[in-house]
Amino acid sequence: MKYALSGYENINLGGTAGFKLLSHETENVSRTGVFYSIEKPFRLSYRIKALRVPESNEPGRLQDDATCKRKENAIMANSKEIPYKIYLEESEMPKQWYNLRADMKNKPAPLLNPGTMKPMTAEELGQVFCKELVDQELDDTTPYIDIPQEIQDFYKMYRPSPLVRAYCLEKKLGTPAKIYYKFEGNNTSGSHKLNSAIAQAYYAKKQGLKGVTTETGAGQWGTALSMACAYLDLDCQVYMVKCSYEQKPFRREVMRTYGASVTPSPSDTTEIGRKILKEHPGTSGSLGCAISEAVEKATHQEGYRYVLGSVLNQVLLHQTVIGLETKTALNKYGIVPDMIIGCAGGGSNLGGLISPFMGEKLRGERDYQIIAVEPASCPSFTRGKFAYDFCDTGMVTPLQKMYTLGSNFIPSANHAGGLRYHGMSAVLSQLYHDGLMEARAVEQTSVFAAAEEFARVEGILPAPESAHAIKVAIDEAKKCKETGEEKTIVFGLTGTGYFDMYAYESFNDGKMTDYIPTDEDLEAGFAGLPKVPEDLM
Ligand SMILES: Cc1ncc(COP(=O)(O)O)c(C=O)c1O
Repeated sequence: MKYALSGYENINLGGTAGFKLLSHETENVSRTGVFYSIEKPFRLSYRIKALRVPESNEPGRLQDDATCKRKENAIMANSKEIPYKIYLEESEMPKQWYNLRADMKNKPAPLLNPGTMKPMTAEELGQVFCKELVDQELDDTTPYIDIPQEIQDFYKMYRPSPLVRAYCLEKKLGTPAKIYYKFEGNNTSGSHKLNSAIAQAYYAKKQGLKGVTTETGAGQWGTALSMACAYLDLDCQVYMVKCSYEQKPFRREVMRTYGASVTPSPSDTTEIGRKILKEHPGTSGSLGCAISEAVEKATHQEGYRYVLGSVLNQVLLHQTVIGLETKTALNKYGIVPDMIIGCAGGGSNLGGLISPFMGEKLRGERDYQIIAVEPASCPSFTRGKFAYDFCDTGMVTPLQKMYTLGSNFIPSANHAGGLRYHGMSAVLSQLYHDGLMEARAVEQTSVFAAAEEFARVEGILPAPESAHAIKVAIDEAKKCKETGEEKTIVFGLTGTGYFDMYAYESFNDGKMTDYIPTDEDLEAGFAGLPKVPEDLM
């Protein structure tokens, strides 16, 4: 056994004995090379024991346990006051995205061509998606992928985003838990979606395309993409889920202000839209329908490709800036979370937030409790099936192995439009299937109650999607109050809810209801799952 610490010096930290790590055996350990204010040297030896490093060049494998983590947190909390907001310097922003798949032993299953039932080739995918994005989609082995300088520069318009210590919420709840949230709503599009929008628009531009088509649910993705396309002078055609189009006219106008064209979906502008309208007259639409229309539109126009705001591996990859920044900010103060929570629609913000932490978990360096939160009205993780399915309602996309409610499942008109998707990211689905993360389904009235509780003390008006994570973070903090545990909770606050005031109005007027699909409703969705050869299941 080698130990991480090879030397230390006595330094003066405001009267208490302090020690500084001088050198380290591995890069991983150097990240924990921070100042420790301790009273007795034996605590230091405790820490040395806690940081065991691997033999030779095996990837960093630090062993730890919950007690050790808590002690570390306690020591650090005493030695350095944690500000309300931890901001990174621009120079500390990630220069590479982290590809979690490289560390996954059980890789996500490949996308299948529904015609041949064979894995989709780069050439086939290239007819729908931009070339470099296809390369990223299929890359299961490269752990770090450079972020082009142009994208890094764009990120600087609104990043680094703050990691906020929710002191006011903690006080209100009277909890000993320490709550942090990574706030991604500080840009005009109002959410984390811009992190991938600019990347996808950049690769489209680089390929010399005229424009892109896409779907949008709540409207955040469409807004983000229209901003990115305006910046790069690309045409942007958005299919917006009909209920959001009607509920959120101002979000639609933001997209148009940035030069995008916006069509409510299902529409009569595509063959698939006309078919869906005929089969489901009066439907309020779904992300699955809007995806079908956007894919059809891209493949029927010269110089256009389709871009997707979630679900795909490439989108999770771009969103890892969230997790990488979070980790750097926590490391600055020696904070080690016990629990990481995020809402899950198609899985991109959650995947991005947890990736660096899950990477540590997969490499056996640390353990974290990771919780995905989804609406009870669209419970793909908690009540879905792990199976190959279409990513869209019109069945024009490849098949993806994921937790799904069936591509013809149309959820009730829940106000968290961005979480109304029948499936889930293949990466997160595999991790969930392997027991590496948990999922909870919550009802929308309880989500809005949590959103208001949060807004009243923390000031930020959260998006309904983000409020799913708030709800579970509050639940967990309340549990800590009962048990007296000082757990450190980190959650993703993905966006703001200024365009969701109809939803807040419905809650404030006591008109909001909860809808939980029956088993029969779900069975109807499962019945439509495509038949895939046994050996591929
Ligand atoms: C604010 C916000 N948070 C979360 C989501 C969920 O998407 P994902 O699971 O891809 O992060 C959306 C989707 O539209 C959103 O707008």
